[in-house]
Amino acid sequence: MENDVIKKIKFASAYISERINHQPEFLLILGSGLGDVIDEISNEVVIPYKEIPGFPVSTAPSHAGNLVVGFFGGRCVMVMQGRLHLYEGWKAHEIGFPIRVAKSLGVGKMIVTNAAGALDKSFEPGSIMMLTDHINFTGQNPLIGPHNDDLGLRFPDMSDAYDKKVQKIVSNCFENAGIKLSQGIYAGITGPSLETSAERRFLSASGANAVGMSTIMEVIAAKQAGFEVVGLSAITNKADGGEDQQPDTIEEVLEYASIAGKKIKSILPELLNTWY
Ligand code: HPA
Repeated sequence: MENDVIKKIKFASAYISERINHQPEFLLILGSGLGDVIDEISNEVVIPYKEIPGFPVSTAPSHAGNLVVGFFGGRCVMVMQGRLHLYEGWKAHEIGFPIRVAKSLGVGKMIVTNAAGALDKSFEPGSIMMLTDHINFTGQNPLIGPHNDDLGLRFPDMSDAYDKKVQKIVSNCFENAGIKLSQGIYAGITGPSLETSAERRFLSASGANAVGMSTIMEVIAAKQAGFEVVGLSAITNKADGGEDQQPDTIEEVLEYASIAGKKIKSILPELLNTWY
């Protein structure tokens, strides 16, 4: 029996399907500093979230909420221009909804990027960390709620959330471009306040290397739906909570997100072309 969520997914994907001319292979979710990837997309169709039945729509006037489908590096991509965060008040399942819609449209690969603070003392602002794993410290989960087997498994496996096979492909792309790539575990929190220094030391002791306020809800929804997932963090600030911890500023975060974002943008065409 179909439940409401399946109906909503089908409505949204039928609407998008009518508007696009090509089958997207990749879903790109862009974090701070990567928004200008949109400028590189050609032959694009732009669909405002508010036109898509059932899509979460922000009421904030400055919020860019568009689904952009077009070509980048010769491959057809679906880009979420405007991301949903728990700290804005979105429910976990609302953040997962667009991923489920993308799956229903036949998309099977997801690249998710974010801005993150460096718990790891060796990480420098402006550098990139590839996610090898994550720890969900939000206390929330997009799969909570009524289940239907059409969504995937009720208890999806998360032991290889960031597929090792694809991590190798990503490493090769950075190596070929001569750009240093670190690897590590992403700790997800809700925010919007930054962590205290004690919290940062705790997150670090838990095994995490970077901390941020996004990504985890999307990745859980994507794994249930059967996506292969790549996660990349733009390291924007030192966040080790040590003796010399400096206060964080949004200006610093955005400046380094933009530096790291350019690096990620430069490897994307090769990633899209070598990930089959
Ligand atoms: N903490 C949480 N989220 C972040 C940070 C941080 O230090 N930097 C960028 N996003």
